[in-house]
Amino acid sequence: MSGLPSAKRFVFAETSEAPPGGGARRLEVFVPEVLDPQYGMYIWPCAVVLAQYVWFYRNAIRGKTILEIGAGASLPGIVAAKCGARVILSDGAETPNCLDNCRLNCQINNLEDVPVVGLTWGQISPDLVLLPQIDIILGSDVFYEPKDFEDILITIFYLMQKNPHVLFWTTYQERSADWSIEALLYKWNLKCVHIPLKTFNANEQHLAGSSLPGSHTVHMMIITLRTSIPSATNS
Ligand SMILES: C[S@@+](CC[C@H](N)C(=O)[O-])C[C@H]1O[C@@H](n2cnc3c(N)ncnc32)[C@H](O)[C@@H]1O
Repeated sequence: MSGLPSAKRFVFAETSEAPPGGGARRLEVFVPEVLDPQYGMYIWPCAVVLAQYVWFYRNAIRGKTILEIGAGASLPGIVAAKCGARVILSDGAETPNCLDNCRLNCQINNLEDVPVVGLTWGQISPDLVLLPQIDIILGSDVFYEPKDFEDILITIFYLMQKNPHVLFWTTYQERSADWSIEALLYKWNLKCVHIPLKTFNANEQHLAGSSLPGSHTVHMMIITLRTSIPSATNS
């Protein structure tokens, strides 16, 4: 990393509690520290927790097609790609510098073939329509602005029309006790399960050799379809 003196290093290591199945025992990921006021240019506490979840379940994601939304510095997506998933990274279509940052972070981590697309939540754009069938969607700290909550779920719901078995793995940081997505989940026929951090070794203030998530309260949840969508063959 001689050319990047200010890159942060994240080290994911095997522990005895990891599910069996082989796979890498240690992984190093480098993310440059960028001084930029845009939210997508640096790593948020949620990213390390979601990346730890991806790492913990690395044997289950191998060969899966994974889309990261609001990827920013893309730590979870980069970990997934390093563990053998086919990863597509995305961030807002109107933030080309965040998209360039995703590309840079892939390059730094020797991931040459990870596509980066502009996907703005709630917009059924050609880039969204043209995506392949996705197995898992990653979203770290995307629920931070209540006005965007429904747009995020619209994008997720759209992808579930193509594959009703899509799992949305997402982490959020507790910022206000008043925020809730319960009603929106109901409206969009979705449900969510909370995953205790200790079940994937993320109940620590320091993860992956970093000082994150620190004292921030971060939650992990998995969002899926509540009931399957009737198809023409079922009716
Ligand atoms: C708080 S940052 C989290 C970044 C990264 N996932 C992480 O946890 O380190 C929120 C991310 O969502 C992206 N974002 C914000 N509004 C968006 C929108 N309407 N559509 C798509 N992405 C958006 C931002 O560019 C930024 O990358």
